[in-house]
Amino acid sequence: MTGAIIVGTGSYLPERVLTNNDLEKMVDTSDEWITTRTGIRSRRIAGPGEETSTMAATAAKRALDMAGLAADAVDLIIVGTITPEKAMPSCACLVQEKIGAVNATAFDVNAACSGFLFGLDVADKYIKADPGKKILVIGAETLSARVNWQDRNTCILFGDGAGACVVTGGAPGSGIVDSRLYSDGRLWNLLYLDSMPRRVCPVVPPAAHGAAGITNSESSAIQMQGRDVFKYAVRAMAQAVKELLAGAGVAIEEISIMIPHQANIRILKSLAERLGVPFEKMYVIVQKYGNTSAASVPITIDEANRAGRLQRGDMVLFCVFGGGFTWGTTLMRW
Ligand code: ACO
Repeated sequence: MTGAIIVGTGSYLPERVLTNNDLEKMVDTSDEWITTRTGIRSRRIAGPGEETSTMAATAAKRALDMAGLAADAVDLIIVGTITPEKAMPSCACLVQEKIGAVNATAFDVNAACSGFLFGLDVADKYIKADPGKKILVIGAETLSARVNWQDRNTCILFGDGAGACVVTGGAPGSGIVDSRLYSDGRLWNLLYLDSMPRRVCPVVPPAAHGAAGITNSESSAIQMQGRDVFKYAVRAMAQAVKELLAGAGVAIEEISIMIPHQANIRILKSLAERLGVPFEKMYVIVQKYGNTSAASVPITIDEANRAGRLQRGDMVLFCVFGGGFTWGTTLMRW
């Protein structure tokens, strides 16, 4: 059966860089604490004109350019996001309008940090039904608008950005081999973000919006039990990968490169250790962009692709973990 392959990738990162040294001036923290506990050194923060849908649209255009595909040839747009600028219409519909994908169907997927991979799995199902389909799968977030910039436990972790992939049917033997996706709603309160009208909730670090910045009500921002998230994330992703590889009859040694959700370098090191994978097999960009939730995997795919790290025939393993909890893994022959 034909599996989905990726024929174009693109990403967009906001201009503004917020470093750990900048954060030292905002909350009681240090570059040393952030670097050793998370591996993050800087993150990007969206400014005026850099909305979730505009970043997503730019990433999508770059992916379409690489694929050599016109926007009106796109059949479906799926956007993974938990920070759309509007509850209605979907971010995907706004992207459709911005890129001129007049023939596409468009909808969003909310699976928190797992959103891109859940969207890719939906795309794979469409492709298996009709291999000729051309699908844009995007992850895009403006998390800076939903972080409490006075909470040092969370504000150091997150960043903004978008990544996109053009997906279509591949030759037999290529593309997605299998996916394993999971959710456990019983654990929702370990990591959550309340719904808020955007007019009430935008919170950005001071420099982006004048000297005073915009202060924040704690309840509108991301709430997280960091240690529990850490523990579950490592255990759940490792278990998912083992189950998928056992089911597919693929040895971990056959994996050329792993592209995990970029939340924290210690999570990635623990995951590599549990799986018996050399850490060098993981493509890691968390040091530059922090945790960009649903955008993290497609941004990483684009950077790895443009760096020449993804070659046709390579076995590529994606894995994700996020609020819900949601998690999963996908194996693809690139
Ligand atoms: N700077 C300095 N000190 C801090 C900071 C900070 N930014 N944040 C917390 N501390 C302090 C705490 O107050 C605490 O002090 P205390 O001992 O006096 O009470 C101390 O550091 C230890 O705090 P912990 O929360 O126990 O630190 P931990 O080692 O667990 O690291 C972290 C915290 C980095 C959040 C870690 O738990 C983690 O990475 N968890 C995963 C969270 C994550 O990735 N969430 C993203 C969403 S889910 C996902 O994408 C997978």
